[in-house]
Amino acid sequence: MVDRCICFSKTFQELKSIAERHSLSDLSALQQFVEFGERCSLCMPYVERMLQTGQTSFPLRSRVAHPFEDPELFG
Ligand code: FES
Repeated sequence: MVDRCICFSKTFQELKSIAERHSLSDLSALQQFVEFGERCSLCMPYVERMLQTGQTSFPLRSRVAHPFEDPELFG
């Protein structure tokens, strides 16, 4: 399962709680409140999906585009 930003030791559940507490709906707004996603960035598409759907863990076989593959995230 993929359930956290490994580089900053933040679970998606923790990030979701912070997003809900502050009514945040995008990555950059969430990064104003908590440090994540600023090293390898591999967690970013999962956090984006978490913000859209509320899902906080993802099967290893699920395919979520890497940020460099998704110009809408990092255009
Ligand atoms: S896993 Fe989140 S920045 Fe590396």
